[in-house]
Amino acid sequence: MKNWTDLRDWIVQAEEIQELKTIEGSSLNLELSAIAQVNAKNSGPALLFQNFREGEFDGFRVLTNSVGNYRLFNLTFGFPQFPSISETIQNLKGKPSAWEKESEKFPVNFVEKGQITENIMEGDSIDLNIFPTPLWHDRDGGRFIGTGVAVITADPDDGKINVGSYRAQLFDSKTIGLNIERGKHGASHREKYFSQGKPMPVVLIFGPDPLLYILAGSEIPTGVSELEYYGAIKGKRMNVIRGKKTGLPIPAGAEIAVEGFVYPDRTRLEGPHGEWTGYYASDAKEKPYLSVDALYYRNNAIMLGSAMSRGSYNDHASWRSIWKSALIYDELLKNGIPGIKGVYCPSFGVGRQFINISIEQMYPGHATEAGYMASQTRSAAYMGKWVVVVDEDVNPYDMDDVLWAMCSRADPAEIGIIRKGWASGVDPLRPRDLPASKYTNSRGIIFAVVPYERKDSFPGRCEASPEIRNEVFQRYHNQLDGRWTLS
Ligand SMILES: Cc1cc2nc3c(=O)[nH]c(=O)nc-3n(C[C@H](O)[C@H](O)[C@H](O)COP(=O)(O)O)c2cc1C
Repeated sequence: MKNWTDLRDWIVQAEEIQELKTIEGSSLNLELSAIAQVNAKNSGPALLFQNFREGEFDGFRVLTNSVGNYRLFNLTFGFPQFPSISETIQNLKGKPSAWEKESEKFPVNFVEKGQITENIMEGDSIDLNIFPTPLWHDRDGGRFIGTGVAVITADPDDGKINVGSYRAQLFDSKTIGLNIERGKHGASHREKYFSQGKPMPVVLIFGPDPLLYILAGSEIPTGVSELEYYGAIKGKRMNVIRGKKTGLPIPAGAEIAVEGFVYPDRTRLEGPHGEWTGYYASDAKEKPYLSVDALYYRNNAIMLGSAMSRGSYNDHASWRSIWKSALIYDELLKNGIPGIKGVYCPSFGVGRQFINISIEQMYPGHATEAGYMASQTRSAAYMGKWVVVVDEDVNPYDMDDVLWAMCSRADPAEIGIIRKGWASGVDPLRPRDLPASKYTNSRGIIFAVVPYERKDSFPGRCEASPEIRNEVFQRYHNQLDGRWTLS
């Protein structure tokens, strides 16, 4: 597969594999969001929205569902087109650690100009209302310009760059709300600046390419710059320009970027926003916001959008499901847990709240070790809920198989419980009168494995063997009018 160079080239290649469709004439008011949600549930193609019912917005466009299935995931990471989710995940085995190690060899490359400098506005000429910013949910506190967003900050102590994805509400032509939750790298940078009484310099990219968006939205280890990690994946240093106002790096190939400062003594009411848990669970709250000092954009710029919704209707559920599976798998290997055969975080848990681990049990306590550790890896610690450990004869990528193992091998009295885990205000279970900053949640670890001490005496499985199933499928499925599938 050819490696793509920027979002426009990515779009051409997505079209070539028939994973991109253009949508004309839809409304920015709830309709675009609804289309993206239904499309996500169907693992549909990337959608490029243009010529909106509310106006043409000077040729500006919105891309949603950018990585809504494993084919788009493989394109985005520059992999061959593996034929299934499980093969896509297995191909990632060991790669995240390698990229992390390699990233320092790919410092950003400062250049004078790039596509992003085609239009530059400063001071009074800045108007963020020129962009087609959708209304995502009917009870949102306003329009959110930053959903598929990448937020660049620096650690004031060592200058290390971080990129996170934190939702951004459009307040007016020059100010933007920023919702950075506690425990996130952007929040720790902000706390450091504010404790020194200084404003925090920030860059927001509204049109990152899908790879930068995925890295921004993922728990890449502390101290590792996502811009360098990106370079390690692509095997090439990222070209950036230096922001005029903040000095922060801005990807030269990005579509839309703003830079400015978040001040310690200035807050505005932010939210609510329908969230990935499927609820309006984060209330409107006074939060520090971004005052924009410079705006950069390409001609006919494309904003990357991500519609939040429940489970698999969520725009980012598909890529998070694949990528989280790979990251947790990688951390288990890094921690020396033997016998891991597969990890899968299904999209109904948006890649965060349900983790299947399959292991070949090698010693007493092995399943306990794998289950507890998976739950508390850096990649899984935030907002996790359930971990299910299954034996190697159960397919972790098939929930029918996993639920069968839960029914037949798990003893509910033996569910492991972890209390006071790293949670979020967006959890609908958070009591409404408890501030998000004080909220923690618990985790359940379900051991759907044959008890180790009974491995030799546990009743044998009685279903037809895979070989016979395959044989009868080939011989009889035509007689059944094609109503059988082989799984
Ligand atoms: C579409 C999308 C929206 C997100 N919105 C927020 C948000 O508003 N606040 C937040 O703290 N995390 C949000 N996240 C999750 C963070 O991006 C994620 O935890 C990431 O690891 C943060 O980067 P960091 O680990 O460098 O802090 C969002 C992720 C995605 C993909």
